[in-house]
Amino acid sequence: MTNSESRIGQALVIGGSRGLGAAIASALAADGRPTTVAARDAGQLERCRKQAAERGVELSTAQVDTVSPESVGRLFAELAHRGELDVCVMAAGRNLSRPLLRPPREPGGAWTAHGVEEWRETVELNLTGTFLAGREAALTMARSGTRGVLVPIVSCTWPGSWGQSAYAAAKAGVVSLTRSWALELGELGIRVVAVAPGVVDGAALREKCERLPAHARYMERLRQQVPLRRFAAEHEIADAVVHAVANQYLTGTVLEVAGGGFPARIP
Ligand SMILES: NC(=O)c1ccc[n+]([C@@H]2O[C@H](COP(=O)([O-])OP(=O)(O)OC[C@H]3O[C@@H](n4cnc5c(N)ncnc54)[C@H](OP(=O)(O)O)[C@@H]3O)[C@@H](O)[C@H]2O)c1
Repeated sequence: MTNSESRIGQALVIGGSRGLGAAIASALAADGRPTTVAARDAGQLERCRKQAAERGVELSTAQVDTVSPESVGRLFAELAHRGELDVCVMAAGRNLSRPLLRPPREPGGAWTAHGVEEWRETVELNLTGTFLAGREAALTMARSGTRGVLVPIVSCTWPGSWGQSAYAAAKAGVVSLTRSWALELGELGIRVVAVAPGVVDGAALREKCERLPAHARYMERLRQQVPLRRFAAEHEIADAVVHAVANQYLTGTVLEVAGGGFPARIP
């Protein structure tokens, strides 16, 4: 069934005010869905709305901190006034580059180990934030009898990645939520499809490479390991989300969009 034949509800993209989330929100809106982008920073939300409007794409905005159950509850209460929700993309996330151990810098020096606070923050945003948003979205859809779809944005790091153990473990947790929730919610007609990008060639990466030549050289080595020899464009990840939304038989799975394989980051 195409969108023009089916009932179109609204889409919500949490973590949609910049980067991949913003590209995903624009693609969903361009596909004909009233779309709200949600994030913490009101100024960035407004910039995102204006930039989309300049391209002829209409987005609504709402503030949320996805690690706060109260804030997530308020967001969904606000959305209830805007109509039926049938797509919830959970894109709020942050990478952390931190090996478990760092050897001493000089002979006799101290080893340093991964901090517990940075572990907690990474798991809190990437895993607990997705849990809170997905839980509320599923509840909203179940109450209204909507056969909707939850789309967590994970990462090809999820099976394990050098120097990214907290982030990879959190994303693996989200893959597990995807499979568990698909089993539980299938009888309600609610689907759960994770989208796993490889490395994305976005504005933040380009800015970091311009600022730090060593990082640019490192990323170039990674790029050579990708079978397609390039990183993803944001719209290529957004296209996969639109596909996950449209294909009514996809659930409990991870769509990997990584140009044929994620580079091993071992330095
Ligand atoms: N970029 C890549 O190469 C790549 C690759 C694989 C997977 N991913 C995944 O794709 C997603 C988007 O990545 P990105 O690189 O586009 O990120 P980004 O540019 O840093 O954008 C992150 C978005 O999440 C929002 N956000 C952060 N913390 C939040 C919170 N506590 N509550 C609500 N919103 C919050 C940010 O807005 P505020 O800060 O204003 O809240 C922003 O809108 C992430 O889940 C990431 O793990 C990215």
